[in-house]
Amino acid sequence: MKHLLNNNVENIEISGIRKFFNLVSDEQDVVSLTIGQPDFHTPDQVKEAGIQAIENNLTTYTPNQGIFDLRKAIHQYYKTNYELVYQSESEIIVTSGASEAIDITFRTILTPGDEVILPSPIYPGYEPLITLAGAKPIHVDTTDTGFKFTPESLANAISAKTKCVVLPSPSNPTGAAYSKQELQALAEVLHGKEIFILSDEIYSEIIFDFTHTSIASVSDLKNQTIVINGVSKSHSMTGFRIGYTLAPEWLSKQMLKVHQYNVSCAASISQYAALEALTDYEEHTAHIKQVFKKRRDYVYERLVNMGLEVERPQGAFYIFPKLQLNDKNSFDLGLSLVHDAKVALVPGSSFPQHGEGYMRLSYAYHEDVLKEGLDRLEAYLNESAPDRKN
Ligand SMILES: Cc1ncc(COP(=O)(O)O)c(C=O)c1O
Repeated sequence: MKHLLNNNVENIEISGIRKFFNLVSDEQDVVSLTIGQPDFHTPDQVKEAGIQAIENNLTTYTPNQGIFDLRKAIHQYYKTNYELVYQSESEIIVTSGASEAIDITFRTILTPGDEVILPSPIYPGYEPLITLAGAKPIHVDTTDTGFKFTPESLANAISAKTKCVVLPSPSNPTGAAYSKQELQALAEVLHGKEIFILSDEIYSEIIFDFTHTSIASVSDLKNQTIVINGVSKSHSMTGFRIGYTLAPEWLSKQMLKVHQYNVSCAASISQYAALEALTDYEEHTAHIKQVFKKRRDYVYERLVNMGLEVERPQGAFYIFPKLQLNDKNSFDLGLSLVHDAKVALVPGSSFPQHGEGYMRLSYAYHEDVLKEGLDRLEAYLNESAPDRKN
């Protein structure tokens, strides 16, 4: 019977991150610096809004595109913060996490044979969905360009088959983020071309050295851009599963069909909680930004002092140092770090592609945990590679 399966499903793999965790899950006393979600609790008033939704029997299906008040709050949030206006009635879809937003985007626009350009190493959630659609991921190596596209590297990757460019900013796993000027330079390459841009802005609230800009707001790119965001990272709400898409009406109309037949609507209770999150967000988001910035500075300095080659992240809560020892690949090095140093980092090879030779460290942990984990890493490096600083 196996031959009856969809080949595209057989061709995708369980995430490398999961494989790694399955191997190390029994190990005791490990300091883990691996998590992909904030270490804060969901704000109390957001939890309360979810509880109230249950109490008030707001537990039925909602409109497919999400409750109107939440779409209005999303409209207002993008207008106020990112100078972008999307119509609540027709250009916003509330999804089950940013993950579903990515899925409905690809399923709406991709057909077999299309190419999708990705700046790599990159979040592993895009490639399998591209493959499932019968399209082809084209990875641009960004390891020599600050983990970002340059106008040249982007232009060189474009072919007659290019359907979409994925642009995550700030990025998981590298923490790289594009400034307005950098986006303007990329926009010059994309403007006027029949190519979509999937702008993944899920970490837009966690950015340190400049304010977040959406590529949809520069150089008339709005008509070809699908913006993706959500409350998972900004409000420590990963389990609520609320994301959204912002796209022109003609495109949202098509994406809504895929969303409707996929999940009908995002969970009603979570939508009411997200409404509260987006209505009163400033204090919370200012706080997390400040905490993550302090940790970014601390972790970056520690890694530099260990003699490691590392880019200073501009956003999110990850840092991606180069870490190579004794010819081990990053997966085996990750296992050694867990077994011998009792510290867990995510091997760079978990991120397609060009992540080999790197490790992802998450600083979504309390300062004491970060210090202990980094002390262990440093002690291990001093023992295994004492000459590395020379
Ligand atoms: C870049 C990026 N996009 C999307 C997602 C998925 O977000 P959600 O949990 O809202 O589905 C993640 C989660 O880690 C991410 O890092």
